[in-house]
Amino acid sequence: MTDPFTEAHALALDAADPLSAFRGEFLIPHDQGREQLYFCGNSLGLQPRGARRIVEQELEDWAEFAVEAHFKGRRPWWRYHEFVRDQLAGVVGALPSEVVAMNTLTVNLHLMLVSFYRPTAERPAILIEKHAFPSDRHAVESQIRFHGFDPARELVEIEPDEPNGTISEGALERAITTHGPRCALVLMPGVQYRTGQAFDLAEIVRLGHATGAVVGFDLAHAAGNLPLALHDAGADFAVWCSYKYLNSGPGAVAGCFVHERHGRSGRPRFAGWWGHDPESRFRMGPEFVPAPGADGWQLSNPPILGLAPLLASLELFHRAGMPALRSKSERLTGYLESLVRAQLDGVLDILTPAEPSRRGCQLSLRVRAGRERGRALFEHLLSQGIVGDWRQPDAISISPTSLYNPYMDVYRLVRAIDAWSRQ
Ligand SMILES: Cc1ncc(COP(=O)(O)O)c(C=O)c1O
Repeated sequence: MTDPFTEAHALALDAADPLSAFRGEFLIPHDQGREQLYFCGNSLGLQPRGARRIVEQELEDWAEFAVEAHFKGRRPWWRYHEFVRDQLAGVVGALPSEVVAMNTLTVNLHLMLVSFYRPTAERPAILIEKHAFPSDRHAVESQIRFHGFDPARELVEIEPDEPNGTISEGALERAITTHGPRCALVLMPGVQYRTGQAFDLAEIVRLGHATGAVVGFDLAHAAGNLPLALHDAGADFAVWCSYKYLNSGPGAVAGCFVHERHGRSGRPRFAGWWGHDPESRFRMGPEFVPAPGADGWQLSNPPILGLAPLLASLELFHRAGMPALRSKSERLTGYLESLVRAQLDGVLDILTPAEPSRRGCQLSLRVRAGRERGRALFEHLLSQGIVGDWRQPDAISISPTSLYNPYMDVYRLVRAIDAWSRQ
C-alpha cells in the first residue's frame, strides 16, 4: 500500500482506472507547452476529438446535397434531433420519448414555465432556492410578472441554513411543506452551481407533489455529472445545457425533459412547426397537432451544426456508462477532498458537502485568508495552466471529471496550491 499523499499513489490510481483511456478522446488545451490541468467542466467541457469529424460530415453533406441532405444525408437532417435521443435519455434517466435536444437552457426553461407555471389566485407562487442561478431567477420573475403577479410576494426563496451556504434536508422539507400549498411550482437545481450541493430529486418531487405543486429542475450542473433518474423521480419537467459536463461545445443545443404523463396533455404551450406531429407536419396544415412526448415542445428545425457535437459526446457517455463514470467520480473527488483536508487544511475550506450523496464532482473551495487571497490563488493557478472557476464572491470551483481528468491532475493541483501557500 503506497502512502496516499505521494505521486506514486496518484500514478497507481491512474494505472488502475478502467476509464483512463477516455482522456485520449478529448483535446486537452496546452499552456506553455504543457497540457493544462483543466477543472472547469462545470462551465465548459473539453472538446471530444470526434466532434470535429461529425461537424465536418454535416458540412460535407451540406456541400454535396444542399437541401436534399434533409433526406439524403448520412444522418438525415429532418430527424436529426432523434439521433441523440436514446443516449440523452440514458444520461438523465428518462424514457426516450420524454427528452428532446433543442434551443438553449433558459429558452427551454421559459417554454416549460409557459406550460407548467399556471398560477391561480390561490396558488400564485414559485419556490426557488435563494442563490438560484441569475438566469433562472430572471426567468421565473419575468414569468410571475407576465401572469400579472408581483415577484416581491410570489417568488419564495429557500434560505441556506448550513454554515457553508448549503441547504439541509430539514430546511428543504420545511420550506416546501410550508410554502408548497401557495406554490404553483417548485423549481430546484440538481446540483447548486456555487456550493456544488446535489439534491435528492425524488424527495423534492415527493414533497412538492404532496402539497399539490408542480416540480421542475434545472440540471445544468447535474447532467453528465451524476446519474439521474428523472422518470422514476416523477419530475414534471427538467432543463439542462450541454456545454458543461456534456462536452458539446459553447452554446451547444440544450436538453429538455417532460414526464410521460404530460406527453399528451392539453397543457398550454408555445408552439412551432417542429413540435407538430411529424406524421403530418409537412402537409403544412393550419392546425397544430403536437407530436407526442417532449418532441411536441420543439419550435424550430434543429441547428444541425450545433447538435452534431452532442452526438460525438453522448457516444462517449454511452460507451463509459453513467454508473462507471459516477463510481470514478466519487473516488476522484474523494481523493481531492482527502488531499485538501490532509495537506491544505490551514489554507482552504471546502464548502461542498462531505457526503458523496450530497455532491457531484465539484468541490467549491474558499481560501481561509479571505477573498483577496482567494482571487490571488485563482489567478496564480491560471498562470500555471491550472483552470478552475471563480465564483463570486469568494469561491473557486474545482470539478475533476471522470472522462478526462486523471488522478495526477488532482495531485498536481494540490501540490501547486501547497507551493503557493508557502510563498
Ligand atoms: C445553473 C444554470 N442555469 C442556467 C444557466 C444559463 O444557461 P444558458 O445561457 O445556456 O441559458 C447556467 C449557465 O451557466 C447555469 O449554470
